[in-house]
Amino acid sequence: MAPALAARGVTKRFPGGVVANEAVDLDVAPGEVHALLGENGAGKSTLSNVLTGLYRPDEGHVEIDGNPVAFRSPRDAIEAGIGMVHQHFRLVETFTVAENVALGRRGPLARRASAALVRDLGDRYGLPVDPSARIWQLSVGEQQRVEILKALSRDARVLILDEPTAVLTPHEAEALFAVLRRMTGEGRSVVFISHKLDEVRAVADRVTVLRDGRAEGTRLLADATSRELARLMVGRDVVLSADRMPRRRPPGDEVVLRVHGVEAAGDRGEPALRGIDLTVHAGEVLGICGVAGNGQRELAEVIAGGRHATAGTVEIAGTPMGRPDPRRAHRAGLGIIPEDRLHTGLAPSLPVEDNLALLAHRHPPLAAGPFVRRRRLRERARALIDEFDIRTPGPTTPTRLLSGGNVQKVLLARELSARPRVLLAASPTRGLDVGAIETVRDLIVSAADDGVGVLLLSEDLDEILSLADRVAVIYEGRILSELDRADADVEDLGLLMGGDLVAGRSAS
Ligand SMILES: Nc1ncnc2c1ncn2[C@@H]1O[C@H](COP(=O)(O)OP(=O)(O)O)[C@@H](O)[C@H]1O
Ligand SMILES: [Mg+2]
Repeated sequence: MAPALAARGVTKRFPGGVVANEAVDLDVAPGEVHALLGENGAGKSTLSNVLTGLYRPDEGHVEIDGNPVAFRSPRDAIEAGIGMVHQHFRLVETFTVAENVALGRRGPLARRASAALVRDLGDRYGLPVDPSARIWQLSVGEQQRVEILKALSRDARVLILDEPTAVLTPHEAEALFAVLRRMTGEGRSVVFISHKLDEVRAVADRVTVLRDGRAEGTRLLADATSRELARLMVGRDVVLSADRMPRRRPPGDEVVLRVHGVEAAGDRGEPALRGIDLTVHAGEVLGICGVAGNGQRELAEVIAGGRHATAGTVEIAGTPMGRPDPRRAHRAGLGIIPEDRLHTGLAPSLPVEDNLALLAHRHPPLAAGPFVRRRRLRERARALIDEFDIRTPGPTTPTRLLSGGNVQKVLLARELSARPRVLLAASPTRGLDVGAIETVRDLIVSAADDGVGVLLLSEDLDEILSLADRVAVIYEGRILSELDRADADVEDLGLLMGGDLVAGRSAS
């Protein structure tokens, strides 16, 4: 059977010398979910734009049902049955759902007919949305449904979705996967673009991996290991999920962080921490796992000097912390990788060099005079960019233009170069791609090898298991259990995270 949609030797160059796609071949079979997997910048969006007529390839061509086509515009692709849901939706905010679905069609479609169509298709595919709602009133997840309905209303035989889960909660993502499977059940095809291995595994039948603009291979997911796919994606072996990262040095005896009997209220005055005891030793990684909302954020804030503890004490490298005072915590030796890295941790619109220095520039030698300061700032930034392998056009680039992984490297570079005794890291790899995850984990482990005590807060059990020497579970503001990594069992931990105390007893 001829592929429903194919790319044959597609090359796409951009002015400035970027080869975004190089001789890419892709075969999308009828009735399959075909994932396009690759790191940021691999060329996924470019290829989808070629497949949907937004870009014309410099070489190669697109085929539909085995026949070469030359789209002159996205409209041609739509006529040929290729639908696309872009990363940034293309809906008219002030129009209703029904009006958006009716928009841009060749023949007229009365508003009432369009509303009925939205309801019918919504029922059929599990995409409920109110046809009379205006786009700006909808959640992002609902707007995505409208985009999919729009494609279905034109009877798309192939639907391309560019990183559709980036804007969804895990629950919404599951619902989307069910919709996609319903579509392929009818013989339609789906091209699912992602940089996340686990979700590709959850939804796709086959996967083509893109790296640096080239297709590295196509695999049946049933036959391919995650390790192999990660290697294709990154171009080298990567440490995957729960593998224990190798350590150069065992933890020491000195206690660098002591939290004793800490209680604190949450933002709405509810009890958020109900008596937390924990210690972190020099060179040790203590991982705290738990489902979000069980006190992790409040705990991090109390330690960082950003929230008042109603009871208990915090000591950083032997210095007792009194009233909330972030600067005092920093001076005592605390480094922080906050959960909301781009806003709490950094000033997104400031140049990389300023963010690398935000704390250090208060102290000499960077604080001497305005000119000296800027020059020193830049020298220091250059050195850190080099040492931490931060991919940025230069030290003066606004930080928000960097990829997520490089933003996180800026933070780590700044915090670690201040030589902290304790590093508090909250979900440090959330949302990053595989290569960046590995780099960030390496940096954390090598800080621990250098004697920094690390308190790692994460919902990601695999991350905890790969980094931590000891593991604790937080549930409703209490530490339920604390174990050596060697004794930690994934299933027990998972049950504990859900508050299952019976598992807690068997695990401790
Ligand atoms: N319009 C453009 N002009 C110049 N370069 C671009 C353009 N679009 C993408 N690129 C570059 O092409 C490469 C592939 O980008 P893209 O297709 O967006 O990757 P992905 O979707 O996999 O993250 C990147 O190096 C990117 O910077
Ligand atoms: Mg993209």
